[in-house]
Amino acid sequence: MAARARAEEAILREGPRRPGALAIDIYVPGKSKAPAGVPLRKLSSNETPFGPSPKAVEAFRAAAADLEIYPDGGARALREAIARAHGLDPARIVCGAGSDELLSLLAHGYVGPGDEGLFTEHGFLVYRIAILAAGGTPVVAPETNLTADVDAILARVTDRTRIVFLANPNNPTGTYLPFDEVKRLQAALPRNALLVLDAAYAEYVRANDYAAGIELVSSCENVVMTRTFSKAFGLASLRIGWLYGPAGVVDALNRIRGPFNVSGPAIAAGAAAVADREHIDRAVMHNARWLTELTEGIRALGLTVTPSVANFLLIHFPDEPGRRAADADAFLTQRGLILRAVGAYGLPNALRLSIGSEDANRAFLTALGEFAKDRQLG
Ligand SMILES: Cc1ncc(COP(=O)(O)O)c(C=O)c1O
Repeated sequence: MAARARAEEAILREGPRRPGALAIDIYVPGKSKAPAGVPLRKLSSNETPFGPSPKAVEAFRAAAADLEIYPDGGARALREAIARAHGLDPARIVCGAGSDELLSLLAHGYVGPGDEGLFTEHGFLVYRIAILAAGGTPVVAPETNLTADVDAILARVTDRTRIVFLANPNNPTGTYLPFDEVKRLQAALPRNALLVLDAAYAEYVRANDYAAGIELVSSCENVVMTRTFSKAFGLASLRIGWLYGPAGVVDALNRIRGPFNVSGPAIAAGAAAVADREHIDRAVMHNARWLTELTEGIRALGLTVTPSVANFLLIHFPDEPGRRAADADAFLTQRGLILRAVGAYGLPNALRLSIGSEDANRAFLTALGEFAKDRQLG
């Protein structure tokens, strides 16, 4: 008994075997509570105001009849539906419990102690977590105008670089790299470094010079693209992500992933969602309209907004008492408008606003107008 207690103590003393695990700052999701009695308008997690396709909800309900049965470990129906929608080979798709799981599996598969993983200054927080959890060393490349900078990334590549995570478009900035720049990055990377194109917001992008990366994955051995059903498809709670990659990477991930990492209801709902093009088109049209209206509306109040191609906007506040992002956050929260504070992304004086329903967007503009007027921001 005493020996067992000593062994347990040793576990606590020595901690996890991955040296960086305890250096991870725990990921803090967007807030989701308003003060009592105030209607909640959650604009903090880039969720869609349209919800999922009704066909996905129907498929989810039908899947409730089989909950005692293990799901298909290969998520074949989902991979085939994704492949049909995008013209891909289903054998080169891996599905996961959200794209977060895939990002983490990629780091576990391709980064070990002594290796480096690269990402950009205001890049998605999960990259750092995944690299540290895998025992690797995170390396951060500075951005230019809150946008990934290919030369800055390349300048930080060493012979220990094993993975480069690029969110395109990036969260929380909403900025993107044109496809030519992504190709330039790939062409200059060493062949033993994996380029991960995280295209979580690809559905929303309407820029002519943007591409999520399918073409590059098809022609290169060291590029993968990750996608999610959490944003435009409105299935964040079901946790569904997918990855398109070279056969070798797909094979490795299929060996290291959990054997049933996507649930039966998720497979069924995801397959129905990806086939409902109309639902997505409606969500994308709404987003395009409000991206412009909100950007213009916020600028008219005297604040700076980073131009975004995704379903959220980064709003910058003056660094003056009473007018800072934290002041605006408190003011808006009181009115039930919940935005995302982005201090953890190195942006202490900005807030991220997800594009919401027409009602939420208007309520936001009205409340921000009151904040700006009281403080003579205009
Ligand atoms: C850039 C980016 N990648 C990946 C994800 C992960 O999404 P999920 O795990 O829900 O698929 C997010 C979610 O916020 C994101 O912003």
